[in-house]
Amino acid sequence: MEAIVYDRFGGLDVLSLGEVDKPEPGPGQVRVKVAAAGVNPVDYRIRNGWMRHAFPVTFPAVPGLEVAGVVDALGEGVTRFAVGDEVFGHADTGAYAEYALATHVVPKPAALSWEQVVALPVAGETSERVLTQLELAAGETLLIHGAAGVVGSVGVQLAVARGATVIGTASPDNHAFLRELGAIPLAYGENLVERVREVAPQGIDAVYDAAGKGALPDSIELRGGTASRIVTIADTNAAEFGVPFSGEATAVPEPIYEAQARLLAEGRLRIRHAETFPLAGAVKALELSEGGHTRGKLVITP
Ligand SMILES: NC(=O)c1ccc[n+]([C@@H]2O[C@H](COP(=O)([O-])OP(=O)(O)OC[C@H]3O[C@@H](n4cnc5c(N)ncnc54)[C@H](OP(=O)(O)O)[C@@H]3O)[C@@H](O)[C@H]2O)c1
Repeated sequence: MEAIVYDRFGGLDVLSLGEVDKPEPGPGQVRVKVAAAGVNPVDYRIRNGWMRHAFPVTFPAVPGLEVAGVVDALGEGVTRFAVGDEVFGHADTGAYAEYALATHVVPKPAALSWEQVVALPVAGETSERVLTQLELAAGETLLIHGAAGVVGSVGVQLAVARGATVIGTASPDNHAFLRELGAIPLAYGENLVERVREVAPQGIDAVYDAAGKGALPDSIELRGGTASRIVTIADTNAAEFGVPFSGEATAVPEPIYEAQARLLAEGRLRIRHAETFPLAGAVKALELSEGGHTRGKLVITP
């Protein structure tokens, strides 16, 4: 089958469109004929070799953690799905390919497109997990760094739905978008502490860092000098500040995918779509992702 492959760690130049064996589903897995694969910043981090402890890689490797498509083969013991079912979720093998294996997938609501559902698994599970870790409650004030990103913007909406006041940092071009989602937008950078205090004189109860761009010292200051109720998903210097780094799912993700897909279908959750690429355009998609300022989800349709 065709796939985007790399056989050593490195930059964009290690990627190519090549042929690899079609994967065979093991116990509990389904094989999915990929209709859409989600692009995530972690894809280029894994490819660069920066994540080799958390995400061990065997070569030749295929990127892609999010998959949506049609079940085309069943592994031993799978009774939840039949060949021909439309599903989406987490990919066990690289999704930048014609076929991928998956364990944690759920039915795709008919009302949603492949591009819409494939944007959900990582952003939805991550933001749900972090808000739970922060124990965010109604009436509290949450600061989200990187609020206009795919993950951060889902975090904004889930926090607003929990009844929180949300302050989100983003570049000024994204402020209207954040207002639409119900957040109070602020630019990141200089004097952030003072500017947050101006819009939130009541104080900040919790901080969700979805950007990883050095805002942890300001966050600690805003929390009154403590790292408690601050969680980052992206700052690799977190330990230096005593801030927990949240890196992996803490619950079975299927119920989260199902609940959030319903919200998406009802228009109560929104994920911006940036651009769709064919498999051969995956290198361009990863280049854009690495640039760090895409507006919405990048999707590959093999
Ligand atoms: N640990 C986990 O479980 C986990 C899971 C998913 C994602 N992540 C990480 O979370 C991060 C966000 O992922 P994503 O998919 O949302 O990425 P994304 O859609 O590419 O969004 C990145 C966002 O960062 C914003 N940004 C750039 N510089 C910033 C700064 N200095 N301060 C605040 N915001 C800034 C950009 O906004 P502007 O364009 O407005 O600048 C952009 O909207 C990535 O680092 C990713 O690897 C971690």
